[in-house]
Amino acid sequence: MAIALLLLLLPDLFTAVVSTGNFSQDFDLTWGDGRGQILDGGDLLTLSLDNISGSGFRSKKEYLFGNINMQLKLVPGNSSGTVITYYLASNKSTLWDEIDFAFVGNLSGEPYVVHTNVLTQGKGDKVQQFYLWFDPTQDFHTYSFLWNPLRIIFAVDGSPIRVFKNLESSMGVPYPRSQPMRIYSTLCSAKELVTDGGGGFVETDWSKAPFNASYRNFDDKESCVWWSGASSCNSTTAATSPWLSDQLDSASQERLRWIQSNYMIYNYCSDVQRFPDGLPPECDVV
Ligand SMILES: *[C@@H]1O[C@H](CO)[C@@H](O)[C@H](O)[C@H]1NC(C)=O
Ligand SMILES: *[C@@H]1O[C@H](CO)[C@@H](O)[C@H](O)[C@H]1NC(C)=O
Ligand SMILES: *[C@@H]1O[C@H](CO)[C@@H](O)[C@H](O)[C@H]1NC(C)=O
Ligand SMILES: *[C@@H]1O[C@H](CO)[C@@H](O)[C@H](O)[C@H]1NC(C)=O
Ligand SMILES: *[C@@H]1O[C@H](CO)[C@@H](O)[C@H](O)[C@H]1NC(C)=O
Ligand SMILES: *[C@@H]1O[C@H](CO)[C@@H](O)[C@H](O)[C@H]1NC(C)=O
Repeated sequence: MAIALLLLLLPDLFTAVVSTGNFSQDFDLTWGDGRGQILDGGDLLTLSLDNISGSGFRSKKEYLFGNINMQLKLVPGNSSGTVITYYLASNKSTLWDEIDFAFVGNLSGEPYVVHTNVLTQGKGDKVQQFYLWFDPTQDFHTYSFLWNPLRIIFAVDGSPIRVFKNLESSMGVPYPRSQPMRIYSTLCSAKELVTDGGGGFVETDWSKAPFNASYRNFDDKESCVWWSGASSCNSTTAATSPWLSDQLDSASQERLRWIQSNYMIYNYCSDVQRFPDGLPPECDVV
């Protein structure tokens, strides 16, 4: 009797173990007509772009807060004119929320630009851009969104590059906290993106196509999954989920300051031309 019960439970245990970080189980290839592929039994996902189309994928799950980690290897060589988006977004209505990474390709040997933005209720205009302290095309590196009710922390290989605080009640700055989001990523031509003012048109060297990017080690273990109008997190689980109130310790704050002073190339909070009537209120908060 006891053994029969154990056998009945085993398949569940097995599913629980393999369900972490399997691309077939966690994502749908939503765009690109075969240009996106899930390989190595679900351990690797690749996207590809050629002169006909790019490709993309989307998470099956929706999240309302999470510590979402993914390793990416960006397009090698002359990636000029290509863009990799990697972001969280709620349903595209006029008032959607979005938390963005985008990786803007460059000529061989020239640095990729990492673009970040936060949109709440359809309004963004909060761009910060960075160079990286390594070549993101040689190896996989971890890009993370920590999104909890208090703050959003963008991190690269565990180093924070940007923090967007919830200043909604103190300063009236809208914060994404009520709409569940999916994870999305695309590899596409910069031409297909409505760019945020900056940049300008960049040619792509199609003779070098296809352009490929790879993904592995997806990790959403710390997350609140939204399912049928309810969250997998509740007051009981919150007590054992420190990530839900995580903030930077003093060493991480130091690291953040170092990255921002050495690698940040654009900050909306310094763009007085873009905000002639005054910078957004959160720009006063250190
Ligand atoms: C796309 O590239 C292929 C291979 O280089 C080429 O044969 C084809 O003509 C191109 N198609 C378009 C629409 O440019
Ligand atoms: C988006 O819309 C679909 C279909 O209406 C629904 O099933 C899903 O829950 C919605 N997701 C969000 C994030 O609102
Ligand atoms: C490419 O690299 C140059 C520096 O060599 C930089 O000025 C530029 O912003 C980078 N990005 C793009 C999209 O050209
Ligand atoms: C990269 O591609 C662009 C667009 O076709 C081209 O103008 C540039 O010369 C190429 N650069 C290198 C180093 O191959
Ligand atoms: C790039 O992706 C395409 C489509 O998945 C694939 O056929 C090709 O072999 C890949 N190229 C490299 C260098 O991995
Ligand atoms: C909280 O969530 C856990 C795990 O999802 C569940 O087992 C538990 O019953 C929930 N507790 C309450 C009070 O809803």
